[in-house]
Amino acid sequence: MSEQSERKRVILSGIQPTGTFTLGNYIGAVRNWAKLQDEFDCLYMVADLHALTVRQDPAALRRHSREAAAMILASGVDPKRSILFVQSHVPAHTQLNWIFCCNAQFGELSRMTQFKDKSAKHPDNVNGGLFTYPALMAADILIYNAELVPVGQDQTQHLELARNIAQRFNNNYSPTFVMPEGYVTKEGAKIMSLADPTRKMSKSDTNANAFILLTDDRDTITRKFKRAVTDSEGEVRYDPAAKPGVSNLMAIYHIFTGKTMEEIQHEFEGQGYGAFKEAVGTAVADGLAPIQNEYNRILADKEYVDTVLKEGAESASRIANKMIQKVYRKVGLLQL
Ligand code: TYM
Repeated sequence: MSEQSERKRVILSGIQPTGTFTLGNYIGAVRNWAKLQDEFDCLYMVADLHALTVRQDPAALRRHSREAAAMILASGVDPKRSILFVQSHVPAHTQLNWIFCCNAQFGELSRMTQFKDKSAKHPDNVNGGLFTYPALMAADILIYNAELVPVGQDQTQHLELARNIAQRFNNNYSPTFVMPEGYVTKEGAKIMSLADPTRKMSKSDTNANAFILLTDDRDTITRKFKRAVTDSEGEVRYDPAAKPGVSNLMAIYHIFTGKTMEEIQHEFEGQGYGAFKEAVGTAVADGLAPIQNEYNRILADKEYVDTVLKEGAESASRIANKMIQKVYRKVGLLQL
């Protein structure tokens, strides 16, 4: 980030390296990251510490972290303009996490729907990290005084908690943190599963037909869209409540073609779902092709990715360490 850009507003966002990104991750979050780089000072993070709240294979986690960084770069994040780093490389996040754990209340953490969902999904591993996860996420954001956080809809409850923590800290000590706001786009904030359009598209889904991975090849993408669950009406019409499957495909098609819902409805009038699904598959495969080429090119140069991450961690640490010193002083920790 240049000296001159220091007065720009700050953005922070993150993604867990728990596998290859889905189309949901891309549409809901990563797609927007590159777009925001001119207007804001952006920090983007591979949230590897968050991934540990669910059991991970250590070798796979390491591999996925580098792959995640390569995919973020392939999606247009420019390390000359933005800071890209791995969460565990900036220890100040975990330092602030502890302070926030001592500020976040049991009641508010218990209300987090993601905690409830993940506890139900992994009843054998309802660990302390899963419970305090939003305090770490608040630390990720507030340590840079980020004002905007580009995320999908599923993260808005965590953001609300980050605001509550910030407000409480400011009231208990003195004004320290700015209130972060979500940057959630209207269409695409929640891309649904292709197998069950009442559920979010998620990379942890056991049914591989439920999601599109950003690395899926053209045939796989086309096949998955052909199999996408819709309804028996046969009419391409946007109505998320009554027609969640078709509406989800329309939202995806809209993102990749820029066509409005009316234009899409008109385009497939009287044609049934076959032609529509085929067109969605083609649009997505065409749209992802240049990102996939970039991804393969970047990932082949491990040294480049590691240099970006090393420099990113240094830049992020410089900002984060200042904030942690300030916070430690405010809460009364002895400094020598
Ligand atoms: P994660 O890794 O689950 O997802 C990364 C981003 O992708 C969005 N997303 C979706 N958007 C639309 N439709 C979907 N089906 C879909 N699935 C996922 C998520 O909303 C998210 O924006 N806690 C975060 C990572 C994180 C973070 C942060 C984010 C850690 N610290 C600080 C922002 C700021 C998470 O688990 O995202």
